[in-house]
Amino acid sequence: MSENTQGTLSNRLTYGMVGGGIGSFIGPVHKAAIAIDNSADLVCGSFSRNKEKNQATGLDWQIESDRIYDDFEKMADAEAKRPDGIDFVVIVVPNNLHYKCSKVFLEKGINVVCDKPLAFTPEEGYDLMKLASEKGLEFMVTYTYTGYPMVNEAKRIIADGEIGDIRMVMAEYPQGWLADRAEDTDNKQAQWRVDPERAGLSCCVGDIGTHVENMVHYVTGLEIDRLSASLDTFVEGRKLDDNARINIEYKGGAKGIYWSSQIAISEENGLKFRIYGTNGALEWEQEKPNVLIYKRKDLPTQIYTRGNGYLSVNAQQLTRIPAGHPEGYFEAFGNLYKKYCRKLTAKKNNEALSENVTFTDVVDGTRGIKFVHDCVKSSNQDGAWVDGSFDYKKQ
Ligand SMILES: NC(=O)c1ccc[n+]([C@@H]2O[C@H](COP(=O)([O-])OP(=O)(O)OC[C@H]3O[C@@H](n4cnc5c(N)ncnc54)[C@H](O)[C@@H]3O)[C@@H](O)[C@H]2O)c1
Repeated sequence: MSENTQGTLSNRLTYGMVGGGIGSFIGPVHKAAIAIDNSADLVCGSFSRNKEKNQATGLDWQIESDRIYDDFEKMADAEAKRPDGIDFVVIVVPNNLHYKCSKVFLEKGINVVCDKPLAFTPEEGYDLMKLASEKGLEFMVTYTYTGYPMVNEAKRIIADGEIGDIRMVMAEYPQGWLADRAEDTDNKQAQWRVDPERAGLSCCVGDIGTHVENMVHYVTGLEIDRLSASLDTFVEGRKLDDNARINIEYKGGAKGIYWSSQIAISEENGLKFRIYGTNGALEWEQEKPNVLIYKRKDLPTQIYTRGNGYLSVNAQQLTRIPAGHPEGYFEAFGNLYKKYCRKLTAKKNNEALSENVTFTDVVDGTRGIKFVHDCVKSSNQDGAWVDGSFDYKKQ
């Protein structure tokens, strides 16, 4: 498959991480994903607010002691001053720090990868869009699921017009892990997600509904026109939503229904879409990511599987091992980094790219946080229809 994402030995990309301390979820996933293609080296970090955990994580990951920083502001400052300072930072802290942390690194001229949701408010997102563009920096927002080969095959099928005009989108993301008060246990991931100070305006939509919005937009290119949302809090004592029902009308006439939930007993990570057009339909689910179901009018349903020669070049290039050997979450994440690092390497080497390398970026992140806001706004008005459109020119 692949083109070199790694640069020459003397010009390898390096990165730092904010968050990702021992016991955390997504930081180590980012690290493993970057390592799949040996795309960049982790050389510094501020991994935890807890001093011992910060040091222990740095030692565990073989970081030089002078590059384990007490806080991310010191890290941005010191790395910007070093001749061998990092090429990019990976921000994997709870949501309340995304905007502040991204801004600090952008201001120091350092490229940013930030996990979703990008910020607390659309205005913060627009501010980051503006800053990244003014500084000419690359800003990826890790909507992980867009990295799956079969998701990209669905995107290709739709873009080629094979299923015709889209009429209806059914997309859902049920989980069951917050069906009880997990926040009262020592589950740190649950504790901050239900806390408005650290999670933001929404728990369920901000945490997983945002993946639904991004996935549908990524695969179909549809733009939301207006939406009506009802956000529910089923578990007593919670300040934020743990279930969301959202009715969508897209520009151009297509309709959609999004459901996300954290109280759906026994569901694990059930991101799924079904997209119905005038000539056919597509169905994909995250827990069976190597399979894409293709339903065509008046023909038998076909099952496409990852790694086969009948798939598009793009889907094949996002694959590492032969068909029948399951690939999954790490590889999907790795595919995002492969593209990001390819672009950064080319920039670092002043080399022109022969292909258009794209990834989910700060614009997607801003559209995502606008979506969360629109859902909360509608729900606060008893599900009234609200403008759900996104202004790409606003900055
Ligand atoms: N893309 C995805 O699929 C995906 C999946 C899970 C989580 N996420 C996102 O990743 C982010 C982190 O989620 P998580 O589940 O890994 O959380 P977590 O609680 O497991 O980890 C957060 C880490 O940040 C550290 N931290 C907190 N404040 C810090 C500070 N000021 N400086 C340095 N480190 C600090 C904590 O010590 C911890 O190590 C969230 O924004 C979440 O929405 C994205």
